[in-house]
Amino acid sequence: MSTDTNAETGDESTSNCGASNETNRTTAESSSSTCGASSTDDSSSNCGASSSASSDDSHEQEVGSTVEDFDADPGQLTAVGLGPGHAEGMTERAKTALLEADHIVGYTTYIELIPDEITEAADEIYDTPMCGEVSRTEESIDRTLAGNDVAIVGSGDPNVYALAGLALEILESKGATASMVEFDVVPGVPAAQSCAARLGAPLVNDTVSVSLSDHLVPMPEIESRLHSVASENFTITIYNPWSRKRRENFRKCCEILLTHRDPDTPVGIVHGAGREDEQVMITELGELEDLGESEIIDMTTTILVGTEDTYVWDDRMVTPRGYETKYDY
Ligand SMILES: C[S@@+](CC[C@H](N)C(=O)[O-])C[C@H]1O[C@@H](n2cnc3c(N)ncnc32)[C@H](O)[C@@H]1O
Repeated sequence: MSTDTNAETGDESTSNCGASNETNRTTAESSSSTCGASSTDDSSSNCGASSSASSDDSHEQEVGSTVEDFDADPGQLTAVGLGPGHAEGMTERAKTALLEADHIVGYTTYIELIPDEITEAADEIYDTPMCGEVSRTEESIDRTLAGNDVAIVGSGDPNVYALAGLALEILESKGATASMVEFDVVPGVPAAQSCAARLGAPLVNDTVSVSLSDHLVPMPEIESRLHSVASENFTITIYNPWSRKRRENFRKCCEILLTHRDPDTPVGIVHGAGREDEQVMITELGELEDLGESEIIDMTTTILVGTEDTYVWDDRMVTPRGYETKYDY
């Protein structure tokens, strides 16, 4: 997710619920889907905007088809976590699940992270631009109900700000029972862990994640969560920290953190962990807001804010686990 500029791009592409096409790839930008795409396309939603209108839009999503519309024996639907974004960061289980899938569905950027030998082996690839998550997930479900084995992919882990839950919710809204489709989740390394690995050992004690995306959760609720988390001595992982439309969220987040933590609290910033444009920086909380306008902080960045006990040793963040209180070393 490098920018939010393509959030509002076009229509769904033509889908045929499983027949291969010449290139095996269908990008949902060119025409209309016939395979269960939502009747209200979320690509028109204001994904990433800080107004509450975007969340209102998302409530208007309608399921286009129900289980009654499919005659086939359903296939298997697998939510696959790709990890940080390089082939070596994918688990063997993720690679196997993708190789076994007839169709692979995902956000265009994530599809491009998958090794070619895997995408070339699939009968069909279906990708959508950013913010097509509802129509994309429904497409994957309809393809499964039509009898195909489908993998829906995302970065990191499918249970961390990702589509595993949405898949089950949409299945339920289509009138399916949980057991009607064989649904499986293949975990991947979440960004918090990939980024922590680049910074040393910042997360080894109690830790909490907060997303600054107000696409689905209104900003006052995010602010309240930040206050509550920052008032305890947890490390804080901040996902979705910045976009052009979320500058104010980032500024507000820095302000809230500084009401609970000292300005010299260590902060680790990792942009594009495991990707070609990876950048890593260790700084202090008092410097964080100004870095919001630098290229290291965008929608592919994760920020780790230390506890009161976190320190920096030789360019490594260290959060003591408490061993030093029990052992001599
Ligand atoms: C919608 S969330 C998806 C999280 C993902 N499911 C996970 O487990 O990491 C997207 C956010 O994850 C973080 N992220 C994803 N990939 C990253 C990477 N390679 N390096 C740093 N942060 C990343 C960023 O904060 C980004 O805004």
